[in-house]
Amino acid sequence: STQQLFKIACIPGDGIGVDITNAAIQVLQKLSETVGHFAFKFENLDWSSEAYKERGYYMPEDGLEYLKKFDAIYFGAVGWPDVPDHISLWGLILPIRNALNQYVNVRPTRVLRGINSPLKNCGTRDLDWVIIRENSEGEYAGHGGTTHAHSSNTVATEVSIFTRVGIERIFRFAFETAKSRPRKKLTMVTKSNAQRHGMVLWDKIFTEITKEYPDVETDKMLVDAMTVRMVLQPQSLDTIVATNLHADILSDLAAALSGSIGIAPSSNLDPTRENPSMFEPIHGSAPDIAGKGIANPIGAFWSAAEMVRWLGLEEAGEGLITCIENVTEAGMKTKDLGGSSNTKDVTDAVCKEIENVL
Ligand code: NAI
Ligand code: MG
Repeated sequence: STQQLFKIACIPGDGIGVDITNAAIQVLQKLSETVGHFAFKFENLDWSSEAYKERGYYMPEDGLEYLKKFDAIYFGAVGWPDVPDHISLWGLILPIRNALNQYVNVRPTRVLRGINSPLKNCGTRDLDWVIIRENSEGEYAGHGGTTHAHSSNTVATEVSIFTRVGIERIFRFAFETAKSRPRKKLTMVTKSNAQRHGMVLWDKIFTEITKEYPDVETDKMLVDAMTVRMVLQPQSLDTIVATNLHADILSDLAAALSGSIGIAPSSNLDPTRENPSMFEPIHGSAPDIAGKGIANPIGAFWSAAEMVRWLGLEEAGEGLITCIENVTEAGMKTKDLGGSSNTKDVTDAVCKEIENVL
């Protein structure tokens, strides 16, 4: 029998990024050994804030080119208190997303079996969303500058970039996602009342693309009102598309509403498949709990499952998600979910579940 081999670049990064990446590798290894027809070859890249402080850079000069030889990238988290956050973000994760054309960020959120939403009366089926985040331009395009920095007249600009190409492709991806889900429902998030150029173009192109998808039901929300709807009527939402900044914020809210920021996964996708895609939990390096062995690895496992699915191993990916949910349903939870298990307990339990179920 032939065995498919996938080369995975692992960038654990900082803080709990290291703990949860190790846990995810353990689970992926167990998954491949158990299912059998595929295997992973992991290569660890020590591109971190620690390395930055020693060497003066996060990734080597050929780093982006180097990543292209892998089938996928698994990422932990980057950022540490003694390095300014814009240095770490722009030194590592944003260049990867940009250079590898990962223009979509997919963020599913759901109340997993056995987990309680902080919302009263919000059961497992009442919150089941996929947030599609524009991942290449918008408010995080990096355009802008600072002048008169050393005077009392300092000027700084942060220019949002919205392009027709960028907007069309993210909406098409969002419509395809909505279409693939049972409810075929897409909510578009905007702020075109106040932002009258970029966001107006965003709205206009949405109306155009809507015509290509007559079978998808659509509606439109201003981002501020969207936060209210997410809290008060979670059942009314399914697939959500929003700009880079808006979706960044809304997906943290979504994660909290589904139980914890430690659960939520994300996929940075190049839908053309010309470049490897990158998979990471949405949380950061959590310096407050780093090194204690108590980080919730569920978001990391779910991200790993999304990677497995993206690599074409649909059944194994779904299987892993089932195993994760069996563990949460059994009550094995870390502190952020109100439990007392640590990272290792949850990791071992998921590995055992893989052995038993798959
Ligand atoms: P954070 O997500 O690291 O932590 C926020 C809170 O959630 C903390 O109280 C933390 O303990 C808790 N938390 C996060 N993940 C958890 C997990 N898996 N299990 C249990 N509790 C968890 O966000 P924060 O504190 O704003 O940022 C810390 C650093 O991470 C900063 O340097 C920031 O720039 C960076 N960051 C990096 C990201 C990335 O690499 N993609 C994303 C977000 C933040
Ligand atoms: Mg974020």
